[in-house]
Amino acid sequence: MAKHTITLIPGDGIGPEIIAATVRIIEASGVEIDWETQIIGAQALEKFGETLPAAATDSIKKNKVALKGPLTTPVGKGFTSVNVGLRKTLDLYANVRPIRALPNIPCKYPNLNLVIVRENTEDLYAGLEHTVVPGVVESIKIITEKASTRISRYAFEFAKRENRKKVTAVHKANIMKLSDGLFLSSFYNVAKDFPEIEADDKIIDNCCMQLVMNPQQFDVMVMENLYGDIVSDLCAGLIGGLGLAPGANIGEIGAVFEAVHGSAPDIAGQGVANPTAILMSAILMLKHIGERDAAERTERAMLEVFAEGTTITKDLGGTAKTADFANAIIDKLKQ
Ligand code: NAI
Repeated sequence: MAKHTITLIPGDGIGPEIIAATVRIIEASGVEIDWETQIIGAQALEKFGETLPAAATDSIKKNKVALKGPLTTPVGKGFTSVNVGLRKTLDLYANVRPIRALPNIPCKYPNLNLVIVRENTEDLYAGLEHTVVPGVVESIKIITEKASTRISRYAFEFAKRENRKKVTAVHKANIMKLSDGLFLSSFYNVAKDFPEIEADDKIIDNCCMQLVMNPQQFDVMVMENLYGDIVSDLCAGLIGGLGLAPGANIGEIGAVFEAVHGSAPDIAGQGVANPTAILMSAILMLKHIGERDAAERTERAMLEVFAEGTTITKDLGGTAKTADFANAIIDKLKQ
């Protein structure tokens, strides 16, 4: 296949460590990639005076694909989330988060295999907050029929493409009758176009309990932005933790692949971070760019390392460093 050009954003905290490990593994799979490294976030602010420089977004628009490490978002201080800014600027409206248990990793549900499709552009994430009077803050939740329909359609089309059987809408329409009510009615309108796929819905609080007690009942789940943020961390916990949950942000302009977890400042710089989630995101990226064979070989190599169970990072109870884990996968790819 022809050489690909892909934007690479190493990110903050453990980002550069896990990205470096992943790039080495992807290159060992034989796929030829020209990486265009860009910085965004606090590092870009320091260097260029802005958190989301046009050079980075232009690079993603041109290449249509990016692999991104996590970014640190300082709490308070008027620093708006660069992740949210990036998703809005590129209109990356669908956040796809597969949740799949891996062999030999102790977890609550060893056969779990579900996918969360999170709306990425609106909801409370619109960041519309203001002080009404001192001591009273209003935060505005925006839900539109357009975005709710678009994300529901993405979820059903994804289910159809991936041969999945059911899509569940997650909401709180019993309380937020207008906003979540609109999300839910948009969902069922789209469902009519996919009679072969079962459509149902769950109220978010019940859904969380069901996920902990009996998650196998779910297949594809679609939800608003904030619920998606919270539920995907819950689901990561069901399969062994945040180090194992990959993600993709997809829009018409391009796609940005990144792990669900953040920059893990508590372990940054120690070389102990688990690169699995970002590697799995990179495997999704390889499939997205048509490198299915390399994606499958890389995934097989990773699964073999897990199945052997001797080179496992600290978060999963092992002693391997980030680089050891990457080397073990590279050895398998070279066999
Ligand atoms: P976090 O996901 O960075 O860390 C939570 C816990 O999980 C920590 O104990 C951490 O050590 C562990 N952990 C996370 N990823 C790991 C990995 N690959 N290997 C081993 N252990 C791992 O969440 P936290 O602490 O809430 O956020 C830290 C920063 O990351 C914040 O500034 C937050 O805004 C940002 N963040 C960025 C995201 C992104 O860029 N997509 C997503 C989530 C958070």
